[in-house]
Amino acid sequence: MRTELDEHETDALELARKAADKAYCPYSNFPVGACVLTDKGFFTGSNIENSSYGLSICAERVALFKAVSEGATVIRCIAICCREAGEQDAVGTKMPCGACRQAMSEFMSLGSRVIIDGAGVWLIEELLPQAFELGKSHFIKK
Ligand code: THU
Repeated sequence: MRTELDEHETDALELARKAADKAYCPYSNFPVGACVLTDKGFFTGSNIENSSYGLSICAERVALFKAVSEGATVIRCIAICCREAGEQDAVGTKMPCGACRQAMSEFMSLGSRVIIDGAGVWLIEELLPQAFELGKSHFIKK
């Protein structure tokens, strides 16, 4: 398991942990925070739920979409913190969902690192091998 973080990744993880404090999750009581490091700096996100459950959005996509909507053109890495997932809990309780993996793969080039609090570091292609793509993303450097 990869665990070593560089200075920027350490900062991103700390910001992701703090972002979980801003989660709006009265239905699940499962706060999640995320932070992306981009060419325009750090952007954080938290999960935001809705009484119409299916409208809820994960922390990772909030962080990604904030960054893209503010003009970021490179997403270097993402850090994720599922705050309520304990040390003894299954690793799956800390991992990004499938929808967020697809969203990440739109914006993160192969080799980009996904830092998952309490679980380790993965490359985007390890989390979603052979991701669906139409080959038009302006974010992906081949
Ligand atoms: N959640 C995230 O924010 N990110 C994930 O990758 C998995 C799940 C949120 C969605 C929901 O608000 C809560 O965690 C419980 O599923």
